[in-house]
Amino acid sequence: MLLHIDSSADTTADSVTRQLTEAFARTWHTAHGNSADHRHRDLSAAPVPPITPAYTTLGRRVEREGFVPPAKVPALTESAAEQREWGLTLPYITELLAADTLLLGVPMYNFAVPATLKAWIDRVTFPGALTDPDTGESLLRHTRVIAVMARGGGYGPGTPREHFDFQTPYLKAYFGSLGVPPENLHLVAAELTRVDVLPQLAGLEELAADSLARARATLTALAAA
Ligand SMILES: Cc1cc2nc3c(=O)[nH]c(=O)nc-3n(C[C@H](O)[C@H](O)[C@H](O)COP(=O)(O)O)c2cc1C
Repeated sequence: MLLHIDSSADTTADSVTRQLTEAFARTWHTAHGNSADHRHRDLSAAPVPPITPAYTTLGRRVEREGFVPPAKVPALTESAAEQREWGLTLPYITELLAADTLLLGVPMYNFAVPATLKAWIDRVTFPGALTDPDTGESLLRHTRVIAVMARGGGYGPGTPREHFDFQTPYLKAYFGSLGVPPENLHLVAAELTRVDVLPQLAGLEELAADSLARARATLTALAAA
């Protein structure tokens, strides 16, 4: 199953991450058949509710038990608020665990990932839920993750803002800590997407076009694989 999650607040055809995730999904369908299971989640149209005190209280109690499979969490709830939180959380976990490929559209917002995506991350990373309770192994060790990033500026090696890119190290640390092997994690960026509006980027039009073309080509190859 392809789990396709967009997080750009721009729901128009102008969104670069949405254009690229859609192109990935199209090629993926060509390779896997039109009836292949593709689920699309739009975190801007349907935001994941931020976690609440009941989520953290339940999470702490579950953590004390060691690795608890999702099926055993309801027995550990102690209030209606905790049951509600678990009811909100479980579908995201189930969906992620069913995915062979996780495709994320990740615009750069203030040097990091959008709050809508962070809300999904905080909810789906419920203590123990992504770990095999019998072996302690990551349940995401075979999941392929493709994060499609877009940023208005440029953050490549040697550029003045190289060290302002907190998306790339964050996504590497997050998925690495979840047990997604480095060879299964693909971070693809289209840079300088605001070249047409920001005067300080004038003259970089060709670099922007190259960056977008390279991102498209990389994603086509990944989708066809
Ligand atoms: C709230 C907000 C914050 C942004 N912050 C940054 C930033 O820190 N660095 C940057 O290079 N571009 C920034 N941008 C520009 C976006 O990264 C850029 O427009 C990108 O293409 C957005 O992805 P999308 O086209 O899929 O919507 C920001 C845009 C918005 C709306």
